[in-house]
Amino acid sequence: MEDLVELRIVSVLFADLVGFTALSESRDPEEVRELLSRYFDVCRDLVERYGGTVEKFIGDAVMAVWGAPVAQEDDAERAVRAALDLVQVVSDLGKEVRAPELAARAGVLTGTAAVSLGAKGQGMVAGDLVNTASRIQTQSQPGTVLVGESTKRASEAAIAYEPAGTHELKGKAEPVPLYRALRVVAGRGGLLKSERLEAPFVGRDRELRLVKEVFHASTEDRRAHLVQVTGIAGIGKSRLAWEFFKYMDGLRSGYFWHRGRCLAYGQGVTYFALAEMVRGRAGILEAEDRDSALAKLQATVDQYVADPADRRFVLPRLAHLIGLEERTAPDKQDLFAAWRLFLERLSEQSPVLMVFEDMQWADPSLLEFITYLMEWSRAFPLFVVSLVRPDSAAAGLAATTRNATLIHLEPLPPLAMDKLLTGLVPGLPAPLVERIRGRAEGIPLYAVETVRMLLDRGLLVEEGSAYRPDWADRDPGGAGDAPGPDRSSPRRHVARGAAAGPGRFGAGQDVHPSGADCRLRPGGGGAPADPGLPGGQGGPLGPGRSPFSRAGPVRVPPGPGAYGGLRNAGQTGAPDEASGRGHVPRARLEPRD
Ligand SMILES: Nc1ncnc2c1ncn2[C@@H]1O[C@H](COP(=O)(O)OP(=O)(O)O)[C@@H](O)[C@H]1O
Ligand SMILES: [Mg+2]
Repeated sequence: MEDLVELRIVSVLFADLVGFTALSESRDPEEVRELLSRYFDVCRDLVERYGGTVEKFIGDAVMAVWGAPVAQEDDAERAVRAALDLVQVVSDLGKEVRAPELAARAGVLTGTAAVSLGAKGQGMVAGDLVNTASRIQTQSQPGTVLVGESTKRASEAAIAYEPAGTHELKGKAEPVPLYRALRVVAGRGGLLKSERLEAPFVGRDRELRLVKEVFHASTEDRRAHLVQVTGIAGIGKSRLAWEFFKYMDGLRSGYFWHRGRCLAYGQGVTYFALAEMVRGRAGILEAEDRDSALAKLQATVDQYVADPADRRFVLPRLAHLIGLEERTAPDKQDLFAAWRLFLERLSEQSPVLMVFEDMQWADPSLLEFITYLMEWSRAFPLFVVSLVRPDSAAAGLAATTRNATLIHLEPLPPLAMDKLLTGLVPGLPAPLVERIRGRAEGIPLYAVETVRMLLDRGLLVEEGSAYRPDWADRDPGGAGDAPGPDRSSPRRHVARGAAAGPGRFGAGQDVHPSGADCRLRPGGGGAPADPGLPGGQGGPLGPGRSPFSRAGPVRVPPGPGAYGGLRNAGQTGAPDEASGRGHVPRARLEPRD
């Protein structure tokens, strides 16, 4: 067959290893070969997870392409996500083999290239774009990702960049502006991006990587798995889940994402978190009237549950879960069986993820259901994440689950706190950084809220790309105990409150479900902050509402498809056809292996 060549918009990623030659000279050749082959495997896996194709390896360099053979609108974004992940993975690999100097550097460029449609892999894409991409890569520093302007424009809704100057590139008449990709700040296409200042994610790379790896392993083995993240309020449990969401949302493959919160108060909250997940799956809004909610639920059950008898079993019990139908004296086991059946059917199409927030407030019945699910559905790709404070009943969940991973979040080390602060407000004078860090004692919430308070009160002002303290008659880094222009002003009172130290976030303290303390809110009163969440901080969401949930948050586009996960499985999902649609076994109520 003759090769068809077409002009297509593609994104090309080049990456190579830095410090590898030196490493290979000092190590046993066998070891070097092994390391290199692990690197190749990692590259290939990673590129494929993000929907790209490895075109070739050249020595220790890799070239990968997005947009060919199949183009998608977020190709550029996924290429950059993959590049960021790649440099991180290589640095982890280096640490693992005790070669901390090992790093990767990467370049991504988006533009038109000639694509040979007949070719697969090698020789698929050619042209000036490819050469320029490889030159961009050589301009980047070890451990970093540089991109061209077109890539930046196509992906900046989800990726944060900083200018990296103009560069003379061989073959280009004019110097070319390049940008350094800093981090992923949102779901795909900018989904759920925070409208507030968000600190860069620091100090938890290992934890995040562990969550990702366990997730991929559980889907590959088709096994249910529980990840339990424990830590005191404000330590970063929700943030870890948000980072994981951003990662998942950038991947190519389909999955069903769910998130639900446990509430500390209120009526009918026994299974609130689970109900929230089902409502999200069906695209039911919080204020939706009963008829339309029921219609949506029915459509959802029809979509995922093939067997009519199963549907008749599942529908009323899900309706009961989300409060659309009252069932008198519901038998727990009967309800559990139906909910579980629904989740299993979903997972036969694509892996199911369920993130339970604030599990310290989980009702014992919810814990019972999760235990039941993990036991009876253990041969299904169900990935449950439980975020919980230590010393609560839910923290014992992992002990009753076969496949469980425990992650305990400790306070962040000083270096990470410095990175958090200087990333949040660049230019912050060192003494102030030191003071906030000293008082925060490794609790990121405290550092973030102090900065927000200073900004909100105008005590810290933005100047160009940096921030400077603005309280005229006092040295912000001075010996005083609180920044504030006037020791007797009410302002000072608030500043002092915020500076009172992390004790108030200590374990066992009564703080808001979001992990925030109302007293930190500038101006006092009002809705408690919800700082772990994009768009958070009370505001239009109010307490207990979170932009993560799909029901009514400000940034969530209307209709199903936001954090609830429909989009992921439904539209880009391409769930594995062979894995379920044709073959849907009948409900089985006994445990299976
Ligand atoms: N590793 C981290 N790097 C940067 N900021 C973080 C990190 N962990 C938490 N934060 C920030 O600290 C605040 C509190 O974190 P959060 O995840 O809500 O705590 P938790 O859920 O444990 O109560 C949020 O603003 C969050 O973005
Ligand atoms: Mg939280």
